[in-house]
Amino acid sequence: MEWGQIILLSIWLLLMVDVCRTAGMEPSLKIMSRRKVLVISLDGFGHHYLDKYPWRYLATNLYSAGSYPRKFRNQFVTKTFPNHFSVATGLYEEVHGVIGNNIYDSSLNKTFGMDDKELFMQNPLVSPVWTLNEEHGGHSGCIMWPGCGVAYRGKNVTFLSPFHQHALFNESIDKSIEWFTNERTPANLIFLYHEEPDHVGHIYGPNSSQVEEELRKIDEGIGYLYQMLTVHKLRDTVDVIVMSDHGMSAVKEENVIFLDDIVDSSLYHISGTSPLLNVWTTFEKQLEVYSSLLEGSRTHNYTVYLKEDPQFLAWHYSKNTRISQISILAAEGYVFKDFKNYIDYMKKKGATDLTDTHGNHGYPVDIPNMEPIFVAAGPSFKRGFKAPDFSNIDTYMLLCHLLNLAPGPNNGTADNISSILVEPISSTLIRPLSVTLGCLVALLGLIGILACALTKKEKHRPVSAESLINGYVHRKTMRGQRREPLQDVSEEECLLDANIIDEV
Ligand SMILES: *[C@@H]1O[C@H](CO)[C@@H](O)[C@H](O)[C@H]1NC(C)=O
Ligand SMILES: *[C@@H]1O[C@H](CO)[C@@H](O)[C@H](O)[C@H]1NC(C)=O
Ligand SMILES: *[C@@H]1O[C@H](CO)[C@@H](O)[C@H](O)[C@H]1NC(C)=O
Ligand SMILES: *[C@@H]1O[C@H](CO)[C@@H](O)[C@H](O)[C@H]1NC(C)=O
Ligand SMILES: *[C@@H]1O[C@H](CO)[C@@H](O)[C@H](O)[C@H]1NC(C)=O
Ligand SMILES: *[C@@H]1O[C@H](CO)[C@@H](O)[C@H](O)[C@H]1NC(C)=O
Ligand SMILES: *[C@@H]1O[C@H](CO)[C@@H](O)[C@H](O)[C@H]1NC(C)=O
Ligand SMILES: [Zn+2]
Repeated sequence: MEWGQIILLSIWLLLMVDVCRTAGMEPSLKIMSRRKVLVISLDGFGHHYLDKYPWRYLATNLYSAGSYPRKFRNQFVTKTFPNHFSVATGLYEEVHGVIGNNIYDSSLNKTFGMDDKELFMQNPLVSPVWTLNEEHGGHSGCIMWPGCGVAYRGKNVTFLSPFHQHALFNESIDKSIEWFTNERTPANLIFLYHEEPDHVGHIYGPNSSQVEEELRKIDEGIGYLYQMLTVHKLRDTVDVIVMSDHGMSAVKEENVIFLDDIVDSSLYHISGTSPLLNVWTTFEKQLEVYSSLLEGSRTHNYTVYLKEDPQFLAWHYSKNTRISQISILAAEGYVFKDFKNYIDYMKKKGATDLTDTHGNHGYPVDIPNMEPIFVAAGPSFKRGFKAPDFSNIDTYMLLCHLLNLAPGPNNGTADNISSILVEPISSTLIRPLSVTLGCLVALLGLIGILACALTKKEKHRPVSAESLINGYVHRKTMRGQRREPLQDVSEEECLLDANIIDEV
C-alpha cells in the first residue's frame, strides 16, 4: 500500500467516526434544539362536555388536527391536586403522596392543605417533568399548576405564576407566549392550569348555562392561542396538549349525608373532601367507628373501605401513611356535610342564581362522568388519530420523550400513548441505535483493513489504527477542555444526547 493511500484511508476513517456519531443521533438532535411543549389543563372538564357545546377551535385546531385516546383514565381519588401531580410525576397518588386536596399525615400528626408546600414533599424521590427539564438545561414555566411552586431536588422552575382566582384564560395564554419567546431564557415547557369549568361546575352543576358559558370562553381561548402561535411563528415548534383532571357529576342538595346521625363525632376526625373522607380514630375506637359506619351504609348511599380493601389496592390508593385505616366514599351524586358547607359559603359570598343542583367529583374513575379529556396536536403528533386507552400517568413518559429527558422512576407505560406520536417512542430509540451499530461494524471492518495494510507493508513505522483513534479522541478531549470556540456545535449536542439516551 502506498503512503498516499494510507493517508487517504486514514482521513476516510476519521470522517467515518464523525459520520457514525452524528448519523445515529440526528432525530434527537432536532428534538433537542427546537421542540417546545405547552400542557394546558382545564380543571373539571368532563369528557361528557364535548357533546355539550358546538366546539369550533377545540374541534379544528386540536381534535381534527391531533390525536386523542379512546378513553383517558385518571387516578382515584378524582380530585384536582392529586391528578395534576400524577400527570407531572407519572406516579400513582399513593406513591407521590398527594392523596387529596388536603390531607392528614399520621406519621407527622400534621394536616396539610392546598397552600402548604409539604403537601407535595412526602416522597423525596419524585421527579416532576418541570424539574427534569430544568436539570437538563431547559426552562420550565408553570401557571398555577398544583405543586409547581415547590423546589424539587433543590431546583425551582424558571417561570412561575402562582394561583389567583378568576384568572383569565387569554391572559394565561399571553403569559405562555411571553415565556416561550423570552430572549434570555426561552421556555421549552409550560404547564398552564385553568380553574374553569370546575369552579362553575361545582356551584351550578354540570348541566348549567354557566358551565356552557365557560365552555364558550374556553373555545374562544383556544382560538386565541392558535392565533398567537401563528403571529409568533410558533405553530411549527410548539406541541400543544389540552387535558383535564376529572369530570363533574350533578349533586342535588337533598343528597347530603349527615354523618353526625350515624356515628358519634367525638370518636374520630376527618381529612379530605367529599365524596371521599379519610376517617381517623384511635386504635381502641376503631372497631366501634367501623361498625357504626358500616351500619349507616345500609341506609345511606356511601361505602366503607378499609385501607387494605382489594378495591383500594386495585386503585393504587392504599400504601401511604396519609391514607387512613377507614375511608368512606359517597355514591355518585352524593356528598357529605363538608360539601354543603362549601355551598353555604358560596351563598354567603353572594353567588346568585343558585338552584338546588350543584356539582362534585372525586368518585371512582370508572364512573363515566369522571372521565377527563386529552388531546394533543402539533408537529410531533399524528393528525386525526384515535389511540387506544391510556392513563394520565403515561403523560409523564410522553413529555420526557418530547423533551428528550431521561424519565425518573414512574408508574406509567409508554405502549399506548406512544401510538399518538409521528415517531413512536420505541423507534426513535432503536433507529439511532441501529444506525450507530451499522456504522460501527463498517468502521471495525476498515480498521481491520488498515491494520492489515500497515503491519504488512510498514514494519519500520508501526502506526496502529488504535493510536490513530486514540489521537483523535485525545485531540477532541483537549479541545473540549481548553474551551476553544466550537467549530461543530452539533457534535457537542450529540454527546449530550448520547448520555441521555444511555440513561433511558
Ligand atoms: C397531634 O397533634 C395535636 C395538636 O395538633 C395534639 O393535640 C395531639 O395530641 C397529637 N397527637 C399525637 C398522637 O401526637
Ligand atoms: C425557590 O424559590 C423560592 C421562592 O419562591 C425561594 O425562596 C427559594 O430560595 C428558591 N430555591 C432555590 C433552590 O432556588
Ligand atoms: C380576554 O377575555 C376577556 C373575557 O373573557 C375579554 O374581555 C378580553 O378582551 C380578552 N382579551 C384579549 C386580549 O383577547
Ligand atoms: C345532565 O346532563 C347529562 C348529559 O350531559 C345527563 O345525562 C343528565 O341526566 C343531566 N342531569 C340533570 C340533572 O339534568
Ligand atoms: C341511594 O341511591 C339510589 C340511586 O341513586 C336511590 O334510589 C336511593 O333512594 C338512595 N338511597 C338513599 C337512602 O338516599
Ligand atoms: C392500552 O389500550 C388497550 C385498548 O384500549 C387497553 O385495553 C389497555 O388497558 C391499554 N393499556 C394500558 C397500559 O393503558
Ligand atoms: C410505582 O412506581 C414507584 C417508583 O418507581 C415504585 O416504587 C412503586 O412500586 C410503583 N407502584 C406500582 C404499583 O408499580
Ligand atoms: Zn373541583
